[in-house]
Amino acid sequence: MNKKISIAIDGPAAAGKSTVAKIVAEGLEYIYIDTGAMYRALTYKAITNQIDIKNETELMKILNDSAIELLPGKAGQIVLLDGGDVTNDIRTSEVTNNVSVVAAHEAVRKEMVKRQQRFAEQGGVVMDGRDIGTHVLPNAEVKVFLLASVEERAQRRHSENIQKGYPSDLEILKQEIAQRDKFDSEREVAPLKKAKDAIEIDTTSLSIQQVVDQIMKLALERIG
Ligand code: CDP
Ligand code: CDP
Repeated sequence: MNKKISIAIDGPAAAGKSTVAKIVAEGLEYIYIDTGAMYRALTYKAITNQIDIKNETELMKILNDSAIELLPGKAGQIVLLDGGDVTNDIRTSEVTNNVSVVAAHEAVRKEMVKRQQRFAEQGGVVMDGRDIGTHVLPNAEVKVFLLASVEERAQRRHSENIQKGYPSDLEILKQEIAQRDKFDSEREVAPLKKAKDAIEIDTTSLSIQQVVDQIMKLALERIG
């Protein structure tokens, strides 16, 4: 049987992490873990329960009481929060604009990282986020850091919104993405940063398939 490796995919917002991670995981028959969805689920719960997202103690109370499950679904990953399907609820702009504050708390990250490492215990995992190669899976056999210009990333989200029939403003998206990247990169705990041993791929002018091919090549080299 082939060796089951771990693949860490990090990078800024809308660089294509989850899209390519999902395809790579399907190709290898690995588990796909979208760690951003976990921070989003907690943010959604905090907003719904009117918790002050700056208050770490309050956030930890609800996190310790929360079951966050990530399941494979036909149209992508399904996110369950305490047994209820929140897959779409966690993608609203209200959640998107508050999630970085939630994710900056040290205690929150410690607990999330523990849960993520548990998901990856058996190997055979493709995990995407901001700190996977640096903190969650520092020994991952393949580490990739995806990049793209902020204009390209905003345009990708814009096209996605239009396709789904959601209201969308390209300029506002550009500002929101730049602001979230800055916040994620400058926070004290586990900031968004390329791991020293990660391969950087600038996807600005690459298709999804071209990015997938590059990651699959790296993975197959390591699987042997
Ligand atoms: O898909 P998108 O790039 O918009 O973001 P996401 O992957 O869903 O992550 C949402 C937010 O969660 C990020 O902006 C980070 O603040 C936080 N996050 C994190 O801090 N660490 C991770 N491993 C994953 C996400
Ligand atoms: O997970 P992350 O926030 O990094 O990005 P995503 O949600 O996977 O991708 C954002 C959008 O960019 C999706 O609509 C993809 O179809 C599109 N896209 C891409 O992911 N990669 C490319 N090379 C080109 C487009």
